[in-house]
Amino acid sequence: MSASNLQIDSRGRLRHFLSIEGLTRPLLTDVLDTAESFAGVAEQSIKKVPLLRGRTIVNLFFEASTRTRTTFELAAKRLSADVLNININASSTVKGETLLDMLRNLEAMHCDMFVVRHADSGAAHFMARHVAPHISVINAGDGRHSHPTQALLDMFTIRREKGPDFGRLRVAIVGDIQHSRVARSQIHALNLLNTGQVHVVAPKTLVPAQAEQLGVKVYHNLADGIRDADVVIMLRLQRERMQGALLPSEHEYFQLFGLTEERLAYAKPDAIVMHPGPINRGVEMDSQVADGPRSVILQQVTHGIAVRMAVMSMAMRRKTASETEPEIP
Ligand code: CP
Repeated sequence: MSASNLQIDSRGRLRHFLSIEGLTRPLLTDVLDTAESFAGVAEQSIKKVPLLRGRTIVNLFFEASTRTRTTFELAAKRLSADVLNININASSTVKGETLLDMLRNLEAMHCDMFVVRHADSGAAHFMARHVAPHISVINAGDGRHSHPTQALLDMFTIRREKGPDFGRLRVAIVGDIQHSRVARSQIHALNLLNTGQVHVVAPKTLVPAQAEQLGVKVYHNLADGIRDADVVIMLRLQRERMQGALLPSEHEYFQLFGLTEERLAYAKPDAIVMHPGPINRGVEMDSQVADGPRSVILQQVTHGIAVRMAVMSMAMRRKTASETEPEIP
């Protein structure tokens, strides 16, 4: 079964959240609008709403993370859910327990949702196919395949900065497109929102074959790729996923593709600079840009909480409703 069939129920509601592929534009917009309604929770004296009181959410991070894990945890807590953070290195998987046995045991503890990050593409999809019917799986990044909540928080940030009409925007994504689950999810989300032009900018060795089939224009020169862009998204070199020498050196990469104040002048004067993090300063961009007035990198992190609150509450809303409504056959 495809991710799209798995993640949407018969009423068109989120059941799991595995990838941007398979979402409809109205559903994506609904997530962004719902996130907007949660954005103010952080300003309240008590930063909580009672929507998921009594629910238990389990964070299963088999790969390193700072932003995604902590913002998922904060989002769950701000929805009043109980949160379990499994320390994978201290779990019985190191004694040989399989992923499926681990899931069965967590199911036996009456958990409601698994948030999973895994180095293998398809891991979240695999889990979604095997969990009990009442459990939702949220993909927090799987291999080089998909990082759908990152793409949503990026769309939320662009919408806040540039308005809802993506049709008039030129968005440039610069860096290691080949190994980036973030780029893949961003491209699908930008296409779904009918973005005017999407450019990808990278050395030839870091662009997937037939990238144009994703509906983007490919550039191998930074100035050409970001010229007149409204949004410049910089990506990290994913060394952990590279096999063999795809680049001469980080120094040389920075000379050709690193974003400096001087090179940012090729983009529109009001262009914003984004990065999903973690940043490697002096490799994909210098500190003047990362910390400069056009950077919205830390706003992206803040928006990640509201967007993850939206995704979790919508997946649970489906569950709460299905307790009273029959499924449409
Ligand atoms: N953007 C992102 O996924 O960051 P982390 O790896 O720190 O979660």
